[in-house]
Amino acid sequence: MKMSVVMKSCCVALFFVLTSVSAVQRLDTFNDLKKINFDKFVPSHSLLLLHWFSNIVDIDNNDVIRLTFDPNRGDYGSHHYGNYERMLEQLPQGNIRYQYYTVGNLNREMSSRLPSYVVHPRFGYEGRNRDRIVIRVREQNVGRLSGQIIDRVYITQHYETSDHQGTRYDPVHTYQVTTHLLSQIREFSVESSDRISLMNLRDDFGSRASDSQIRDIRNSWGELACLGLFLFIVIQEKYISNQHNNRRQPKAKRNTHPDVVVNIPESRQYGASGMFVSLLQDEMTLKVSTSTSGKARILWDNVPENLLNEGVMVVLYNNDEYLTYKSIGNAESGNFNTSIPLNEGLQVRLHKVKKLCCFWTSIGQELHRGEKFQNPSKVSIIGYEASLQLFAKDGKACARLFVKKSFNDWRSKFKKSWVGFYTSADEDTTNYEWWQWQWATKFKPSKDFQDYQVYEYRSGMTISPGVQARFILQDYTEKACTACWRE
Ligand SMILES: *[C@@H]1O[C@H](CO)[C@@H](O)[C@H](O)[C@H]1NC(C)=O
Repeated sequence: MKMSVVMKSCCVALFFVLTSVSAVQRLDTFNDLKKINFDKFVPSHSLLLLHWFSNIVDIDNNDVIRLTFDPNRGDYGSHHYGNYERMLEQLPQGNIRYQYYTVGNLNREMSSRLPSYVVHPRFGYEGRNRDRIVIRVREQNVGRLSGQIIDRVYITQHYETSDHQGTRYDPVHTYQVTTHLLSQIREFSVESSDRISLMNLRDDFGSRASDSQIRDIRNSWGELACLGLFLFIVIQEKYISNQHNNRRQPKAKRNTHPDVVVNIPESRQYGASGMFVSLLQDEMTLKVSTSTSGKARILWDNVPENLLNEGVMVVLYNNDEYLTYKSIGNAESGNFNTSIPLNEGLQVRLHKVKKLCCFWTSIGQELHRGEKFQNPSKVSIIGYEASLQLFAKDGKACARLFVKKSFNDWRSKFKKSWVGFYTSADEDTTNYEWWQWQWATKFKPSKDFQDYQVYEYRSGMTISPGVQARFILQDYTEKACTACWRE
């Protein structure tokens, strides 16, 4: 290993002497990229530029990169680059015309076509317009490869003003980027920013981002989540990867890291670090219930004192997306009325509080999770092959009719039937909520369920504890009555 490093640096030196080409380092993998000291010597803005660039060009199956814009017209803050300092290789002479161009000057007129995340980077990624992409373009008119081909890509940067080097580029911080690396960065394109691919990307690139870190990235970067993950891997994770001997292969298995939470079984206690398992008690409960205004209400009970001392929060999730959270201080039990309308699938999880600078906190490691909120089950409509279910949708009381597929003449049998919504079980059948009823035959078709056809009606009535739906065959003859909506 040591030997080959020595050999390699020998070769580089020799190469340098023989050809007098400046020894521009090549970046071929994420690990090469991670070795660059972003922020300190190279603006991390160049990662934004590189991400944008890798996605704007065309790369075909033969790794041929094609230009998709006109650098002579100044597109994306581009212009001809003369290489007068001989920072880069001299252009090959011959019939084929080569040209260097620089791209990414934010002050140039056409730079406005750069995406907003490059022109107005978020805090921490400003580049003060020093960083650039330099490309070498080959113009040829023969055969399959006619057109403008990019055959070299570099990232570089102007010196700092304090370096008194004028507008030259800094050769020490100039790197050639291989097509391989560009193709890898393309996997993080903005278009692929849906959650599934974020988890997949993480695994494909051997990132150790925990599930909750992935959620944080998704929440803070939104539709740019893949870019967020790319930056996370290159900047935040480089320290981790350095400690682990720089595995060059992506798809490396994820090791368990103290902060990493893997495959949490539903509603089971666990401790990722093994630390909390013995402290958690079985009777700790985390539950979603319903407030009087149709909003999700978080209930917690028996949170162990040790956890309270650590600082914990209840977090409301929809699938794996968090919606809201609240620190629970030292309240072993309590409730919190969120402003999130009630829906099936909402779930409460307990997380550590992560302290950021000043008073800011965010979601730390997950400790426990409750059951997902489920609508109550359906009840039979007496005498018919059909059932009625009361359910919540966006905080409103809704009803679902399940009609057996063999019940062919249900429309004529239920011609005069209707479903009404009641505020409690005590209400008389005639006392349905004003306007909160619908003819059974007017319910909207929904997805079939097993051998039932399903029809739905969404009322305008807020779902809250006590609410009930009833199936009235005709006039005021009740044939089904759901349980009251529970607390
Ligand atoms: C939440 O709302 C319920 C009524 O829906 C109320 O009884 C309870 O006190 C509220 N909780 C808090 C913490 O405000």
